[in-house]
Parts: sequence; structure tokens; C-alpha cells
Amino acid sequence: MVTSVGCSCTEVPPDELGMCVCDVVEFVKLSQPTVSHHLAILERAGLVQSKKIGRWVYYQRNEPFIKQVCKQLQTTLTMLSNKEIKQAVQEHYGQLAQQGRSCCGDAGHLELIGYSQEELAKLSDEVLSVGAGCGNPIALAELREGEIVLDLGSGGGIDVLLAAQKVGPRGRAIGVDMTEAMVERARASAKKLGFTNVEFLLGEIESLPVADASVDVVISNCVINLVPDKAKAFSEAFRVLKPGGRLIVSDIVTHGKLANFFKGDLTAWANCLAGAIEDKEYLKIISETGFEHVEIIAHSPIPKPAGFYSVTVRAFKPAGL
Ligand SMILES: C[S@@+](CC[C@H](N)C(=O)[O-])C[C@H]1O[C@@H](n2cnc3c(N)ncnc32)[C@H](O)[C@@H]1O
Repeated sequence: MVTSVGCSCTEVPPDELGMCVCDVVEFVKLSQPTVSHHLAILERAGLVQSKKIGRWVYYQRNEPFIKQVCKQLQTTLTMLSNKEIKQAVQEHYGQLAQQGRSCCGDAGHLELIGYSQEELAKLSDEVLSVGAGCGNPIALAELREGEIVLDLGSGGGIDVLLAAQKVGPRGRAIGVDMTEAMVERARASAKKLGFTNVEFLLGEIESLPVADASVDVVISNCVINLVPDKAKAFSEAFRVLKPGGRLIVSDIVTHGKLANFFKGDLTAWANCLAGAIEDKEYLKIISETGFEHVEIIAHSPIPKPAGFYSVTVRAFKPAGL
């Protein structure tokens, strides 16, 4: 309860207690009851604190609470909607597909992230020029002839086409991507290279256009970081995998949590940075989806910015499910 005070508080020596109502009245040019009334509201809201010394009440900002409110406001203001993020990602990769460019450098970057010259030699420039991965999940997936492989966010088709060569004519490789220009480009490349055991589907990996328990292996390369609802994407991967099936995902993760202001940058989302989450959290989401034996099987630094790195994670859908 705030006590209205008279205007003789100057008798009290100034100290760090704050201001009395008459100090405030002087510069806001409002009556003392009005100022007292509003200070009482601010105090009830937790933004100011008061202290009564003798007859006088002194007011101060409640610093810890104000800091907390500012932090919360900053988070809220920088939060983008999932729709905005998706749109920015789609536009970015749509442009890259049309221009035949990669977000991550020239074809030389593919060797740096783990593709062998032998693998690259089997593909065309149309495929390699838009390759935008951050690892080589195919090299670690131990694919066998006859298996069905699904690539989440297949882009220009690099991993689908490599998988198709490994699983052979009895097997099949399917790519799903939400960016139409990428899907069209991948389909055209597959046709030109004469692949008959591949399929590229337009769709979102959070609601895969693929039947339950229908694939042996789910792979993905630098895509889940672009997805705001990562748990949904992993639960879809789980749904479409056959019991005992495996997940091999290369992605960008962070050491430690990212500052929130970064999360509000759409360009940083499209460039695989803002949506990257802490490595521990990434593994936790996969485990909580129901996968078992979740482990990082490869990791490598990325040139910049500091704090980010690339991992390849392997996990299994339990055989009994
Ligand atoms: C960084 S690129 C990687 C492409 C490919 N995996 C590669 O290694 O070249 C990301 C791709 O994921 C696709 N993508 C992003 N979010 C997606 C989502 N929610 N559903 C389907 N595709 C998505 C984009 O359209 C883009 O083609």
C-alpha cells in the first residue's frame, strides 16, 4: 500500500533509497494524489518497490524484475512464426534451385564435407552444383541391395541418387522436399542420368507423403535445422520406418544455447544457423521420439561462425514396434 506523502521530504537526507512522491511531482507536473495512485499501480505490477522511512515513502525501480521482463519481451519480439520461417526457407532454396547454386560454396565443398571423388564422379553438374549438405549420411548408412531409402529434404537429389546406386534395381530411393523448384530439378537430373529406382515427392517432412512402416532407412542432410518443429519431423521419420529401421542424419548443431536475438533473423534461418539447436537437445528429441541407440557417429567443425558444428547422428526404431 502506497502512502501519500506531504512535500517536506527534503528534510530527509538524499540517499540510495530512491525518490519520494514530491520529487516525482516536481518533474511530471501532476498532482501528488495522481502520482501516488500511479506509483501504487506500478508497485502492484512489480515494476517499482517502495520503502517507508519515518513519514516518507521512497520509490525505486525493481531492477531484477524489470530485467526479467525485458528479457521476455526480447524473446517474444524476436520470435518468428513457423509460417514466416518456412516461407523464407522455401524462397531461398527455390532461388538456389533455379540459379543452379548451392548455399554452401562450389562443388569443392562437397569433398570437404565427406563425399569421395568416386561418388561425385557418378553424378552430374546439375546435381552437384546445388548440393547443400553438411555431411555425407550415405557413407555411414551401410546401405544394402534391395533396401528402401527415404531422404528428408532431398534438395537437388545428391543423396537420393547415391543411395539409389547402392540399393540397386531391387531397392528404391525416395526424396521428399517442400521446394517445388528443387523437386523439379532433382526429377530432371534423375531422368537425364537414367535412374529408374528413384522418386522425388513434393511435401513437408513434418507430414510425410509416405506410408507407415514402409522404409528401411531414413536419411537427411542439413535439413532438420531448417524445421521449426523438429520433434514432428523426427516423429514422422519414426512412423515411416519399418521396425528395426535406421535413421542417419547429418545436420548443424551448436555447442551451448544460441542467443535469442539470432532466432529472429530469417536469413540466418535459411542459411542453416538460426534453427540449429544444442547437440544435447538434438539427441534428446530423437530419443524422446522413441528411437534407440541414438549416437553421434561423425562430427566436423564448420568454418564459421564459432559455436556451430556438423554432426551425423544414427538411431534405430526398435525392432518390436
Ligand atoms: C540445405 S538444403 C539440403 C538439400 C540436400 N539434403 C543436400 O544435401 O543437398 C535444405 C533442403 O531442405 C528443404 N526443406 C527445408 N525444410 C523442409 C521441410 N520442412 N520439408 C521438406 N523440405 C524441407 C529445402 O527445400 C531444401 O531443399
